[in-house]
Amino acid sequence: MRGQFVTLEGIDGAGKSAASDAVVTTIQGAGYEVVTTREVGGTEMGEAIRELVLSKDSDIVPDAEVLLMFAARAQHLEQVIFPNLESGRWVVCDRFTDSTYAYQGGGRKIGFTRISEIEDWTQGEFRPDLTLLFDTDIVTAAQRVRQVERPDRFEDESEDFRKRVRAAYFDIHQANPDRVKRVDATRTVEEVKRVSAQYVKEFIEQVRGLSS
Ligand code: TMP
Repeated sequence: MRGQFVTLEGIDGAGKSAASDAVVTTIQGAGYEVVTTREVGGTEMGEAIRELVLSKDSDIVPDAEVLLMFAARAQHLEQVIFPNLESGRWVVCDRFTDSTYAYQGGGRKIGFTRISEIEDWTQGEFRPDLTLLFDTDIVTAAQRVRQVERPDRFEDESEDFRKRVRAAYFDIHQANPDRVKRVDATRTVEEVKRVSAQYVKEFIEQVRGLSS
């Protein structure tokens, strides 16, 4: 059976990385093999693009930024995501196309329509099976980002940018209530892990129900 594709999303400083382990252990606990990966990145070429797009020395226009995200994604899909799913492994990916909608669509004001065209071109009908959206208020997120020693090109963006990213995530959640589950990341780390694991358990039950 094909594996399931689970993505983790949220504004910088939402604390999604802290919950990643809980997601992986829950899936493994149910008897599935899991591969973890990330975007921007996940392949040699993708990691090179990551360095370029995150570097504060880079001068990248918004359209080029979108295309770079999808160039890295095309490589990632062919080399990592599709082969693993086809072998029956589950893939947990730290960020995916919802990040492009949120950061480039919302943050850079490119809008959703153009991104959706490139999404269809790059991915066909492929979409994540489950997405956990770690949501926190702008102030808390900004405080967490300030603790980062060397903020990258996105972490260094304005409060208005962050507000637009969060608003775009909100719209994505509203438009995809079955796929996207919101986790209140203002809660304690333990609580965030518990809620994340719960959503994953419910999803596994759903997958098992469909396949039996
Ligand atoms: P990370 O710090 O969570 O690894 O994410 C790297 C940054 O890349 C984060 O600030 C969001 C940004 N990003 C985009 O702007 N568009 C995308 O499509 C992806 C995948 C990430």
